[in-house]
Amino acid sequence: MSNGIIAILLYFSFSIMSLFSTTLLDWYDKNKRDLPWRQTTDPYKIWLSEIILQQTRVVQGSAYYERFLCRFPSLQSLAEASEDEVLKYWQGLGYYSRARNLLIAARSMNGVFPTTYDQVRSLKGVGDYTAAAICSFAYRMPHAVVDGNVYRVLARYFDIEVPIDSTLGKRTFKAMAEEMLDTSRPDIYNQAIMDFGALQCVPQNPDCNNCPFRDNCMAHKKNTVSSLPFKQNKTKVRERFFNYFFISNNDYFYIHKRDDNDIWKGMYQLPLIETSLQLSTAALIEMPVYLQWKDKFEGSDLIVCQYGMKHILSHQILYINLYELSIKGEMPIFDNYIKIHKDEIDRYALPRPIEVFIEKKLHRLG
Ligand code: ADE
Repeated sequence: MSNGIIAILLYFSFSIMSLFSTTLLDWYDKNKRDLPWRQTTDPYKIWLSEIILQQTRVVQGSAYYERFLCRFPSLQSLAEASEDEVLKYWQGLGYYSRARNLLIAARSMNGVFPTTYDQVRSLKGVGDYTAAAICSFAYRMPHAVVDGNVYRVLARYFDIEVPIDSTLGKRTFKAMAEEMLDTSRPDIYNQAIMDFGALQCVPQNPDCNNCPFRDNCMAHKKNTVSSLPFKQNKTKVRERFFNYFFISNNDYFYIHKRDDNDIWKGMYQLPLIETSLQLSTAALIEMPVYLQWKDKFEGSDLIVCQYGMKHILSHQILYINLYELSIKGEMPIFDNYIKIHKDEIDRYALPRPIEVFIEKKLHRLG
């Protein structure tokens, strides 16, 4: 390729980039959201906000961010916290491995937040997106964020059909995002493209006629907006059947810490029998594990399924049934279950379905 052609290509690529960035930043100036983590360049606070915002909506995330920062105002205060307490502050947000990783990372930093991209990227729970967000917002480093919003905006602007969940797609969009980044103000540019995706170039029914890119957006020209970005794989969903038991005597009941590598690791639940199918009560009480329990709690009354619900997670659907077993005599030592008084429950981080049930139950107990 001759130098002349290279110069022309560079010129066009530079003008596309600069037109895109100018239009985007102009839009952002008029439409940006006033969000609490935008008032700071403290990498600890930005890291915390980005971890909370993975898989969480801004409105819900803001409230958790403020509460979390109030209790853990510094990296050191977080590093010194117990996992139980951090999970308690995360209760209700879901994706609890984020909280566990946050704590592991905080403890690995010795009170000083790292200052290079590679060091930030190597923190537990920090991927490409989060490292780029932290480094650009806190240190104004020229790293482009690529999240769901960015995929959508770029896929539509350039009408790209490469699936975003393919290796080629990930590479293509990453390269394109880096190419489009306004390196003179990467912090503002990154916030702007995310806000643009969240507010204007939304997944369903975007208002393309009132979009500042309507004359340049390739997908708008080709009428492909609603089908972009393209994904090749539908996420597989696993169905699980949880039978929980509220085993109580007066104001006491058993809880149990989930410590397997599974959902809700580190959180507390009620005694559980997980089955591979939805079982009737009659079938459930014939199971060996239940028969063992029955022996242990002789003379107790099983109250047939009080509460049934479906709980949807990103890759799992949980069908949950809740039984009650009220014990007649003393509550014996029971495997690795913990006997607690109802007034102690607030100390424990609970998965949402358990929290909802216990709230209802204790409200009734008074
Ligand atoms: N989603 C993830 N990070 C965000 C941020 N910094 N601002 C707005 N939305 C976000």
